[in-house]
Amino acid sequence: SVAALDDEVPARHRTPDRYAAVGAPPGPGRFVSTPDTDPAVREHRAWARDVLARVPVSTLGSATIDAAWLRSSDGVDDEVVRARTAAHAWAALPADERARVLHRVGDVLEAHRAELIEVMAAETGKTLDQGDPEVCEAVDFAHYYAELARDLEHVDGALFTPASLTLVTPPWNFPVAIPAGSTLAALATGSAVLLKPAGQSQRCGAVLAELLWEAGVPRDVLRLVQVDEGTLGRTLVAHPGIDRVILTGAYDTAALFRSFRPDLPLLAETSGKNAIVVTPSADLDLAVKDVVTSAFGHAGQKCSAASLVVLVGSVARSRRFRDQLLDATSSLVVGYPQDPRTQVGPVIEPAAGKLLSGLTELAPGERWALAPRRLDDSGRLWSPGVRVGVRRGAPAHLTEYFGPVLSVMTAADLDEAIAIANDVDYGLTAGLHSLDRAEIATWLDGIEAGNLYVNRGITGAIVRRQPFGGWKRSAVGPGAKAGGPSYLDVLGTWRTATATE
Ligand code: ALA
Repeated sequence: SVAALDDEVPARHRTPDRYAAVGAPPGPGRFVSTPDTDPAVREHRAWARDVLARVPVSTLGSATIDAAWLRSSDGVDDEVVRARTAAHAWAALPADERARVLHRVGDVLEAHRAELIEVMAAETGKTLDQGDPEVCEAVDFAHYYAELARDLEHVDGALFTPASLTLVTPPWNFPVAIPAGSTLAALATGSAVLLKPAGQSQRCGAVLAELLWEAGVPRDVLRLVQVDEGTLGRTLVAHPGIDRVILTGAYDTAALFRSFRPDLPLLAETSGKNAIVVTPSADLDLAVKDVVTSAFGHAGQKCSAASLVVLVGSVARSRRFRDQLLDATSSLVVGYPQDPRTQVGPVIEPAAGKLLSGLTELAPGERWALAPRRLDDSGRLWSPGVRVGVRRGAPAHLTEYFGPVLSVMTAADLDEAIAIANDVDYGLTAGLHSLDRAEIATWLDGIEAGNLYVNRGITGAIVRRQPFGGWKRSAVGPGAKAGGPSYLDVLGTWRTATATE
């Protein structure tokens, strides 16, 4: 229960300790991130082994459903009315009180780190090294949005009015952090929320909702719902009682939502086809490490993942980078998350459609430097692949495959590399490896993406320090960045009043 929480939370995870550790109290401008489990610490290793031992043998694709199933238009109406009614009292609370609940949510999520990692591993195949920082991100969202909400009520004489009801439709690939972030942002502003987890990660959504309720979010203010996609999905998204939708998913889904209701206030973070550019001035060892981590972490199933690497000039001509890249990729341990050695887990569903073509088909001029191999009968376990000889405009250049496959392209100079990266419809993340200031400035100026990373991997944005959001077809709506200072501002309406006496 919540009352016993302080005894249950390991000391290193308690909020005040996070600030004590850096010698400063929380205050304006301070935000200390939640620490990941550290495999260099013996106690953390023992804890991690224990967590993995409890993950049931894969339940991928066999989610049990705990949400309120909306089976008719009346069912949708009932949920909408119930949440809208509850929103009045929630919005009327002083922002400080909502902030207190959100801080409590952060503490409760942190106290249930093990359970959240287990359910992500069992349901979505997420490995511990990916699930553990995901819990940290969810905790950070709770504490950060709690603090942002305190500043919302009056800014320069303008008055913020929250949406009454926000529909949150997160993806399965970050089944805790993304629904937590979107839901908590809306709750922080005073809106009620209908949370509809992705079909493949419904148990993760159910555990998350339970923990939010346990922390003090009223049950009618946060409703966990599920709906068959199709007619009723459309009824839900287009319902006039929904004031705003926060979607994270494919660009096509955002376009579909807009077709249901053209005036829908939509805040969407959508697809990516992200490139890391490596120039001859780069630290090539570091570049190899960052490309491999960004391309194959979570089996490449991140909107932020690197699926292109563009080698410039002599890097393209020499064998050094390519050989190291292939060695590092071949060294990855592929398996299921129950095995603590696993670095690349399964894909969420047996590879089919676009992903299967990305893993098996070659366009003219292409060849496999490392061919992806199907490792078991499930169709979910693939060794990572590296495709070379990819030409500008080829499917492997432009298509988001969302799996463990990387394409290598070459460019004569940095300008051409930037053009190759910008050819794609999306603009989510982008990376540059270069130790040359002029090159870095040129790239920063020319690259079309929302999240830019120099000399590091391109996944794993950090709440407040690296807010996350897209450009071009990677965002639909106002484009505010999750985990950034303006995210709550776009979730309501601003009014100004001028009085003359
Ligand atoms: N926010 C996630 C990342 O940065 C998608 O990898």
